[in-house]
Amino acid sequence: MPIDDSFASKRKVVGQHNGHNVWGPVDPPKVLGIHGTTVAVDWDVCNADGSCITACPVSLFDWFETPGNPLSEKKADPARESDCIFCMACVNVCPVKAIKVTSP
Ligand code: F3S
Ligand code: F3S
Ligand code: ZN
Repeated sequence: MPIDDSFASKRKVVGQHNGHNVWGPVDPPKVLGIHGTTVAVDWDVCNADGSCITACPVSLFDWFETPGNPLSEKKADPARESDCIFCMACVNVCPVKAIKVTSP
């Protein structure tokens, strides 16, 4: 299932990570929630394909290790969310539609 387009109205911020919001529910290591807001990656959809990391022209994403997660043991983390230039490359290349980008 792809990231929920309406996550920001349906979910609540339950924490912070690397300067961005984490949207719940979270129950690690199985359920990890959504990281980021303008550049949001659903860690319960991301399967570590990695295309977003190489496609982003401003190198916004970092890998983050998620040992014990049943889907993948690393995830794309929107570590420099505010650098986004809204090219949408990440959204277009992710094979499982784990990323939602909301331009201002
Ligand atoms: Fe990078 Fe995606 Fe923004 S590719 S510039 S994070 S729209
Ligand atoms: Fe994950 Fe999709 Fe990137 S699967 S690593 S968010 S291309
Ligand atoms: Zn994060």
